[in-house]
Amino acid sequence: MAKRNIVITGGAGFIGSHLVRLFVNKYPEYNIINLDKLTYAGNLANLKDVEAKPNYKFVKMDICDFEAFYDLMQREKIDGIIHLAAESHVDRSIKDPFTFARTNVMGTLSLLQAAKLYWESLPEGYEGKRFYHISTDEVYGSLAFNDELFTEQTPYNPHSPYSAAKASSDHFVRAYHDTYGMPTIVTNCSNNYGPYQFPEKLIPLFINNIRHRKPLPVYGKGENVRDWLYVEDHARAIDLIFHEGKVAETYNIGGFNEWKNIDLIKVMIKTVDRILGNPEGCSLDLITYVTDRLGHDARYAIDSTKLQKELGWEPSLQFEEGIEKTVRWYLDNQEWMDNVTSGDYQRYYDDMYKGR
Ligand code: NAD
Ligand code: TYD
Repeated sequence: MAKRNIVITGGAGFIGSHLVRLFVNKYPEYNIINLDKLTYAGNLANLKDVEAKPNYKFVKMDICDFEAFYDLMQREKIDGIIHLAAESHVDRSIKDPFTFARTNVMGTLSLLQAAKLYWESLPEGYEGKRFYHISTDEVYGSLAFNDELFTEQTPYNPHSPYSAAKASSDHFVRAYHDTYGMPTIVTNCSNNYGPYQFPEKLIPLFINNIRHRKPLPVYGKGENVRDWLYVEDHARAIDLIFHEGKVAETYNIGGFNEWKNIDLIKVMIKTVDRILGNPEGCSLDLITYVTDRLGHDARYAIDSTKLQKELGWEPSLQFEEGIEKTVRWYLDNQEWMDNVTSGDYQRYYDDMYKGR
């Protein structure tokens, strides 16, 4: 395997940390640089097991810092960028859309422009280079309950400030291919779940609340549908697409695994109660219906046939197995949970849910 110098942005976050771990362990001959600003969502404790490996380096940097990123590209002779750094929580985007435009749009553009200037300055130009942007199915908008699934041909129709910013950054990535010939790839993935997810998202928030017998704030009637994929399966798909995907293509990534929120919540309640030895059903009374999220998308569902047929990827875990592993991980890692939910998080949580 040829030596490669790869930057993974957002490597201290949820999906990024799984991807960094996979690459550092699987490709000892690569230099893996984890570039992260360490916002509230970035946590180096997610990567304790790989931090001493010789092929791993952490760089604290804001993706909006064009000069610093250009210098890093030159210094480390970067030939691959896998870009995950983003503001990622829809509820926060509703309260603070500017931060989402800054990081997700301007930050992505800044990386693209620095990569363009550096790669175009080399004798071989774009040969052997790759800019891979990790995006979301939310850019496609919302499906009706009886609709088809999102395919790669579904027109973009984002609704939340988060998905609008991600859609905009996807368009910039494609524009750098179409205008300058940069070898880019975009993938759009469904909702991820698994260890190390920040507990503002549904699954870790609810597992933690069930454990501590706190209310479970269900938005609206709990009938919205999401399509869930185990995070390590997403990381495996990214690895495959980074190495074997076709330049300028888009691939949808999902596990054909749709759940209505309220049904998923009942599975989490059952699993946590069983593992903790609580009487079955005793936590159902924690379910608390609260005011719906503004502009709450009804349903996301991904058709990942193209990825399965063209590159042979398949999710490895059944949902029942994935949720069992996930619940056990959060219950076994209370210290991680306590660390990430102290201080600012507690204020955020109170702001979000008190008086809803
Ligand atoms: P996350 O919020 O857990 O992590 C984001 C990481 O980006 C954090 O480590 C944070 O410190 C870093 N970051 C934020 N702003 C930065 C900046 N200005 N400069 C440098 N680093 C910065 O997010 P996640 O859930 O791991 O998502 C990662 C990517 O995958 C995002 O681009 C997201 O849009 C996309 N995605 C997520 C999901 C999902 O279900 N979580 C699904 C599909 C796609
Ligand atoms: P979330 O994990 O925020 O992911 P996304 O909004 O990107 O899909 O939410 C998943 C679903 O769960 C979504 O329909 C909103 C809902 N939800 C709640 O009902 N209560 C909550 O406290 C949270 C965080 C989410």
